[in-house]
Amino acid sequence: MSTPPDLHRKHIVLGLSGGIACYKSAELVRELMRAGAGVQVVMTEAATQFITPVTMQALSGRTVVLSQWDAREPNNMAHINLSREADAILVAPASADFIAQIAQGRADELLSLLCLARPLERCPLLLAPAMNREMWAHPATQRNVAQAQADGAIVLGPGAGDQACGETGDGRMLEADELRDELIAFFQPRLLAGRSVLITAGPTFEAIDPVRGITNHSSGKMGFAVARAAAEAGARVTLVAGPVHLPTPRHVTRIDVTSARQMHDAVLPRAPRHDIFVATAAVADWRPASAGEQKLKKDGSGRPPAFELVENPDILATVARLPAADRPWCVGFAAESHDLVRHAREKLQRKGVPLVVGNLGPATFGRDDNTLVLVDAAGETELPAAGKLALARDLVREIAARYTPRPA
Ligand code: C5P
Repeated sequence: MSTPPDLHRKHIVLGLSGGIACYKSAELVRELMRAGAGVQVVMTEAATQFITPVTMQALSGRTVVLSQWDAREPNNMAHINLSREADAILVAPASADFIAQIAQGRADELLSLLCLARPLERCPLLLAPAMNREMWAHPATQRNVAQAQADGAIVLGPGAGDQACGETGDGRMLEADELRDELIAFFQPRLLAGRSVLITAGPTFEAIDPVRGITNHSSGKMGFAVARAAAEAGARVTLVAGPVHLPTPRHVTRIDVTSARQMHDAVLPRAPRHDIFVATAAVADWRPASAGEQKLKKDGSGRPPAFELVENPDILATVARLPAADRPWCVGFAAESHDLVRHAREKLQRKGVPLVVGNLGPATFGRDDNTLVLVDAAGETELPAAGKLALARDLVREIAARYTPRPA
């Protein structure tokens, strides 16, 4: 398996303007480099008050550029050279003053100068604001942010929470891992822009009594990867998750459920409001007819307790049978132990869905990699072994290519 890292071959100019959040930029350099990027750090004079160029140089492995008068550049045009090499310029932290400079097109320091000098059509500018909540909320800042966006800058965050000044509110710079994921998403093709995707993921848990239940080994990783990939592709994503301990992908709305019936009740009213439904969840087929209110105890007879099982609703089949005007374009998953394609094709027909994605259950549950076979009316397409996120991105591409909007 050799999926290249997400920022493989990307050259990022990381600009730091002055702010306490500069301490997060040290971690950000490491995150970007771990994701495969080359990072060239550029700092304003104010930024050097908060973190030293020595630290940033040691972490990035490149000399930090501080001044437009840096005579080491043979042509003495650092602003041109830096912005021509970059796949993106990320300014993190972007202070209120720096955003004001960008909004006005000022160029009195190297960092603002190179942002102004960048070729607009091929060197995007991403700003990660970081400032006190009153500074962020100030009409002048909001005006400057709107102007910077109108001129093509992309604004990441800011987040909300505790601030260095002791106040709480909007204006925190996003964390290093969040900024890394925003940058990774930025480079993904927007194949589902304007679409909405509803996804089920993970196992369900069917209570036998207050402490025991029936469940399975589904980790939820594939469904969460599909949710992330769909969000990266520009879709509005709702993720209905069974009991799993996985972080929610950025920009995904998550609804936690436990049982198959709760999953059904979360999905059904939402399905008509989504364009695409991807059922990755390993829903328990049966549940105890009635869950005991008290823990079942051994009675000393040596005989286990008997309890009746009843069938759970089939969420995917129910959504696939909705009237055409309410029915999203449905994708089912088939986790099989053998005869994958035959079972997947049988499922395609039985559930009445346009696409079934087959995988070998024992080979995928809990693992980070997988192999998928796409089965539809046209035939079979194999997505070879790769990490689940890489496969999820491939799957999103295949879904986008096949998706047909429902009749208006
Ligand atoms: O019926 P089977 O479990 O083999 O089908 C698997 C597919 O159907 C998966 O997409 C799964 O998420 C979905 N499913 C469901 N509700 C069930 C059982 C399965 O949505 N009760």
